[in-house]
Amino acid sequence: MSQAPEPQTGLTPIAPIAPIAKEVARRRTFAIISHPDAGKTTLTEKLLLYGGAIHLAGAVRAKANQRHTTSDWMEIEKQRGISISSSVLNFEYQGFQINLLDTPGHKDFSEDTYRTLTAADAAVMLIDAAKGVEPQTRKLFEVCRMRGIPIFTFMNKLDRPSREPFDLLEELEKVLGIRSCPVTWPLGSGDRFRGVYDRHANDVLLFQTEGEANVKGKLAPRGVTGVDDPAIRGMMADEQTYEQFKSEIELLEMAGDPFDLEQVLKGQLTPVFFGSAMNNFGVERFLQRFIELAPSPSARPAILCNLVGNLPANQSGDGRENGGTELIEPTDERFSGFIFKIQANMDPAHRDRVAFMRVCSGKFARNMNVKHARLNKDVKLARPLNFFAQERVIIEEAWPGDIVGLLDTSGDLRIGDTLCDGGKFEYQGVPRFSPEHFAGVTILDPMKRKQLQKGLDQLAEEGVVQIFRQRGFGDKDPILGAVGALQFEVLQARLKSEYSVDVRIERLPYIHARWAVGPGLDPDYFERREDSRCLEDRDGQPVILFKSDWGLRYAQENNPKLQFLTVAPTLRSPAKK
Ligand code: G4P
Repeated sequence: MSQAPEPQTGLTPIAPIAPIAKEVARRRTFAIISHPDAGKTTLTEKLLLYGGAIHLAGAVRAKANQRHTTSDWMEIEKQRGISISSSVLNFEYQGFQINLLDTPGHKDFSEDTYRTLTAADAAVMLIDAAKGVEPQTRKLFEVCRMRGIPIFTFMNKLDRPSREPFDLLEELEKVLGIRSCPVTWPLGSGDRFRGVYDRHANDVLLFQTEGEANVKGKLAPRGVTGVDDPAIRGMMADEQTYEQFKSEIELLEMAGDPFDLEQVLKGQLTPVFFGSAMNNFGVERFLQRFIELAPSPSARPAILCNLVGNLPANQSGDGRENGGTELIEPTDERFSGFIFKIQANMDPAHRDRVAFMRVCSGKFARNMNVKHARLNKDVKLARPLNFFAQERVIIEEAWPGDIVGLLDTSGDLRIGDTLCDGGKFEYQGVPRFSPEHFAGVTILDPMKRKQLQKGLDQLAEEGVVQIFRQRGFGDKDPILGAVGALQFEVLQARLKSEYSVDVRIERLPYIHARWAVGPGLDPDYFERREDSRCLEDRDGQPVILFKSDWGLRYAQENNPKLQFLTVAPTLRSPAKK
């Protein structure tokens, strides 16, 4: 059958949107940052329900009395019922492809949590409205701030007595230094909580109390004419709560920060939503606004290189500056991505090593041959995997913003590595963050020193711990650092189960590590002092450990020419030895 001719409209034809631009525009890749118990598991579950990725509430937490999420799989996690290693959850919602990077929720979190944030384009900051900003949220926020990604705030547990909303906003500004702009505002809290008012849509989402029709959280929003609408008064618990609500909204209009998308996208202003994840209240509105406002994958800076060894280019053939940088647009036809997470022995039955790659530009297709930039080597990506909890599915294609699991049989892939097709660049690697817990490690059977070395190398590569050398000791008797104390237990358990090595871990009394940079650094000065040590990281860079805040301050004041950095100064991954 012949095709119908194109209608003649007389208008200039609009260029078709390239598939890549379309795919990029519909992707949202983000992570949730929160303190333990703020409700991250609960919120994740509700988001997945909307995406149809799971069908039953409670599926994320496998058993009611255990704190598993579907992404839990390590034995130690199962024993303790907490989530230690992160994975990626993805689902479609209203035509958008949502990639939710799952970060560990326990108070002892690892560097892996930080690294995961380098693959996200936005963050959702979940706060328990009774508690406000808690320490772990603050740390994770700092990493987001460093990257300048937009942050969306969800104030949770409004069904419980909560702090005053203005108090919470003030805390965001005082503790985190970020200004806020509430999109929704609560109508009371605790047993007086009746719902939220959406300042943009000018409608009210009504919260149904127990026994009422809140089963699916799908009550239709009620349009109102404004805060003076008598309908709102009718919804409130009492006159006093209504008056308070009204004056709060008036104050917000007068003195609050106006909504400014540009500032949101720069991470300078956070849109704030109120709700209750457990009651599935305010979650869908949040998700809708989030996909509207959050950015699709954007350009990332890369260092130009000639793909010979791992040196920056000065003869890259394209006349650009030695080691110059270029912004790689996600719609660039050349495929590229970087590794932000490595996980060995994910599946004890396979004992394999999986590298997680964030796609940054171009289309990724199964079986494609790509260039491993650091090693200047061609690699065939034959078994790209999508992980949803323990299930792995081979994927045929992926687009910028997506996360692809790569089985790394040769052990060639490292955190921060760039894979690309047709480009001559490397993404700036994944930074290493300063640990706050330290320990020495003693092997119980000296015959197994080799296995210990192998295990430590692998687990350091994954970000379970960082390894520091004592000066003059080489690889012998390293000092381990971790951003969360639980990591030492994880290390000990994994060394035993995966490498058959028994070790004793002895905690050391240091609390800060700083990479020291600058002229006249004298390691002996720090070694002589009772409260500090000077070690080396795996790249040979000096790292000073301190036992107290005071010690750190004293060192800073007495060494004004030195910089004491919380993030390792080299952003590029260490060269392969
Ligand atoms: P996390 O992953 O951030 O650590 O938090 P999680 O979702 O596990 O939630 C921590 C606790 O807070 C859970 O209670 C959960 O039910 C509760 N929670 C989450 N969202 C809300 C909310 O909107 N309102 C109220 N009132 N509670 C909420 P739990 O008693 O520790 O566990 P469970 O018995 O409910 O499973």
